[in-house]
Amino acid sequence: MSKKKVYVVTGGAGFIGSNYIHFLFEKYGQIKVINLDKLTYAGNPENLSSLKNNPDYVFIKGDICDSKIVNQIFEEYKPDYLINFAAESHVDRSIGDAEDFIRTDMYGVYVLLEATRKYGLERFIQISTDEVYGSIESGSFTEESPLKPGNPYSASKSGGDRLAYSYFNTYQLPVIITRASNNYGPYQYPEKLIPLFVTNAMENKPLPLYGDGKNVRDWLYVKDHCTAIEYALKNGKLGEVYNIAGGSEMENIEITKLILQLTGKKESLIKPVADRIGHDWRYSLDESKLKSLGWNQEHRFIDAIKETVGWYMKNEDWWKPLKSGEYLDYYKKQYPEGTSLA
Ligand SMILES: NC(=O)c1ccc[n+]([C@@H]2O[C@H](COP(=O)([O-])OP(=O)(O)OC[C@H]3O[C@@H](n4cnc5c(N)ncnc54)[C@H](O)[C@@H]3O)[C@@H](O)[C@H]2O)c1
Repeated sequence: MSKKKVYVVTGGAGFIGSNYIHFLFEKYGQIKVINLDKLTYAGNPENLSSLKNNPDYVFIKGDICDSKIVNQIFEEYKPDYLINFAAESHVDRSIGDAEDFIRTDMYGVYVLLEATRKYGLERFIQISTDEVYGSIESGSFTEESPLKPGNPYSASKSGGDRLAYSYFNTYQLPVIITRASNNYGPYQYPEKLIPLFVTNAMENKPLPLYGDGKNVRDWLYVKDHCTAIEYALKNGKLGEVYNIAGGSEMENIEITKLILQLTGKKESLIKPVADRIGHDWRYSLDESKLKSLGWNQEHRFIDAIKETVGWYMKNEDWWKPLKSGEYLDYYKKQYPEGTSLA
């Protein structure tokens, strides 16, 4: 019998990483997944509670910047694939204090690449972002467009993105880089626009909308993002970058009104607030490169956004503690420092 493929998913307790782990187990019977996650405020092991008793799922609380724990994982589990989702991911927080961003989003990538150099892997997937290109007035960025990150989050992500490429170019590591647009779906920490606005609307709290609400984002359903990553892993060319777009560009005010409509709340809940400093006006990706390999989205925006809003409406037990602050106390008790849950 052939060996089960072993995936190391870093940052797997966060929004996209946990969706990706669910996707892997739904798609494949015979795999093993090691989830290495530091459990920052954004990491929530409850996102994967349904896998608790699955012997092929291993959760390890740890930091990707810790070479000892990363090397131990390579030695013990001999992974085939590593998909690096681990990151500080919220632009607003990076404007407040960038240190953790530079540490995790750049130095952490270095630690993972060094372990890959030492132990080997079939594929190293660096999850990057459309934000590395910066803002665009018209048209869309291709993978050849220059990088012009405009805030500490996107700058540190650009560092990790290019560092991963450099390990392909210098040491021939099997690196592929993906750059996706704004994701939405279940399990997103309620500080990001869609879950924040849905949950605020449900609580009849104001929806704080930046500036004039005219900033444009391209929305990608997280489940489509997962299939695209897997597609790039299996079919992508080493050393290449693949854009992953949602194909649903929208002004923030439009999506805000849609959320109010779907939650049955009035537009008077919209509260314009001072714009984010250095706010990128528009992101837009040309995704013809990945599509030319054969990948396509499976979900229509309107169906997926309805499903997403419905998920938050049905799962108050998931997001209420995150918004109340009880959560941090709760999981510090559940997962004290040094916890390794095999
Ligand atoms: N959310 C989006 O719209 C979007 C779009 C494009 C790309 N991305 C990228 O996708 C990845 C995942 O994003 P997300 O929205 O799921 O983020 P998230 O903030 O929900 O999750 C990040 C996870 O990484 C973990 N983590 C943070 N620092 C760590 C460290 N030093 N070691 C180990 N684990 C650590 C956190 O505990 C958390 O579980 C990030 O790399 C992000 O840059 C996100």
